Amino acid sequence: MGCSGSNATAPSPAIAPGAEALDARRVAERLVREYGESGVHPRVREVVPGFDGPFFQAGLAGYSDAAMRIIARRHGCPYCVTEALLDRTLLAGGRGFAKADLGELHDNVPGGEEDHPLAGQLMGSEPREMAAAALKLVEQGKRADREYRRLAYNGALAPGAEGHLRLPGGEQIGRGRWPKGQMAKGPNGSGGDDHSRADLSFAAIDVNLACPVKKIASKARGGHWLAEPEGAIRMLEAVREALPASVPTTVKLRRSFDDTPEMAEAFRRILDAAYEMGYAWATVHARTVEQKYVGPSRWDVLRQVVREARRRDPERVVFGSGDVWSAEDVFRMIGYTGVNAAAVARGCIGNPWVFRQARRIMAGEAPAAPSVQEQRAVLEEHFTLALAVNAGARRPEAYTGKTMRKFGIRFAEHHPRAEEVRRRFVGVCGLEDWRSVLEECYSSGPVAERGSVAGSLLDS
Ligand SMILES: Cc1cc2nc3c(=O)[nH]c(=O)nc-3n(C[C@H](O)[C@H](O)[C@H](O)COP(=O)(O)O)c2cc1C
Repeated sequence: MGCSGSNATAPSPAIAPGAEALDARRVAERLVREYGESGVHPRVREVVPGFDGPFFQAGLAGYSDAAMRIIARRHGCPYCVTEALLDRTLLAGGRGFAKADLGELHDNVPGGEEDHPLAGQLMGSEPREMAAAALKLVEQGKRADREYRRLAYNGALAPGAEGHLRLPGGEQIGRGRWPKGQMAKGPNGSGGDDHSRADLSFAAIDVNLACPVKKIASKARGGHWLAEPEGAIRMLEAVREALPASVPTTVKLRRSFDDTPEMAEAFRRILDAAYEMGYAWATVHARTVEQKYVGPSRWDVLRQVVREARRRDPERVVFGSGDVWSAEDVFRMIGYTGVNAAAVARGCIGNPWVFRQARRIMAGEAPAAPSVQEQRAVLEEHFTLALAVNAGARRPEAYTGKTMRKFGIRFAEHHPRAEEVRRRFVGVCGLEDWRSVLEECYSSGPVAERGSVAGSLLDS
């Protein structure tokens, strides 16, 4: 079972009367007029230099590993969030705790220099463990696992080692360097305090108060904290207080635990407390925890959340999530609700072109669908990157073959013979099978657009 539970549904329209009539290009034009070319509120870029578009790739347990993130970035995604990682899993170095419903440790390691800016997402049940895990995430380039476990329970720190995306055999992969000028700045544009940004693995630490998967051993975690506002606030406080001021913190929440007025009030308290503590922004998934992923995301409620946040402080940054299935939806959500950026979640599985299309809309151009040749290049590229992410698995190729099936199925939706291609991907066991599907189903088709899928592995 993933963070999604077992009931992730097919696309459903958001509840937002009138949103469908909004013109995505008009919204994009307004953003450019208001905030300049990036269309991003200045506060966002101050907190995360390099976040230069009003959309990003959401955390997606079981999907959004470094391979998926790098593919998204190569198509114009400006910012990504890791899968939710359980604090205890991190403190235990990925060992000793059931983590079947959450991100695996190796999926949450930044995938080399290309995989920035990246938010590391954590969830947990104990404020102290969350605080220690947050420190471990930002410090993992310098500290040892064992010592972080000590920190959680005794309060000690010591030097250690880091991890990067490598192919089986050890070659580090990832292209393009993160511009030095951006790495050197702190969240307020200064040099930061005792941590320069060049040291950071993560641009921000994101606290998950959204995951609907049931609590374990009667302890709240994820979205279940929304029903226990005091505890949620303690978790947020512990993480904020543990980290140096130069490390931004953000929070992901559902719009409420359920639809009762009591829970709506609890949400408001938690959200308000997060901003008061200095959380840079909140991403609000406009479904309730109870709703899981069933039924529409309530953009009408999200709009109210944004209005209320801005009434308290006009500079509050709010991001939105839920029912963003296309590039046009990014701008419809922003236009309808007033959020500063839209999270692309299920809408970007097997569809990294959504980011390129959003960039085109920002530039006043018509979004283009991927050609079959472009699809082939990305499918090849994604498999290779996934192989690198899974280099530590016992049988990396077999494991990658299995995990890539679910991506293949979604990628197949773009193919003119979608159903046939989908069936072919279901049977994939390794790189050779994957390449046979590409050879047999993707070797002819419209000529690829020039300059797209920048520098794919097939070209290099
Ligand atoms: C399979 C799956 C895994 C998810 N894992 C995470 C996660 O690890 N962290 C997180 O913040 N949200 C997670 N989410 C929630 C998404 O980020 C997003 O908020 C949600 O899917 C609503 O957006 P959508 O309707 O556009 O898909 C997950 C959702 C799904 C379907």
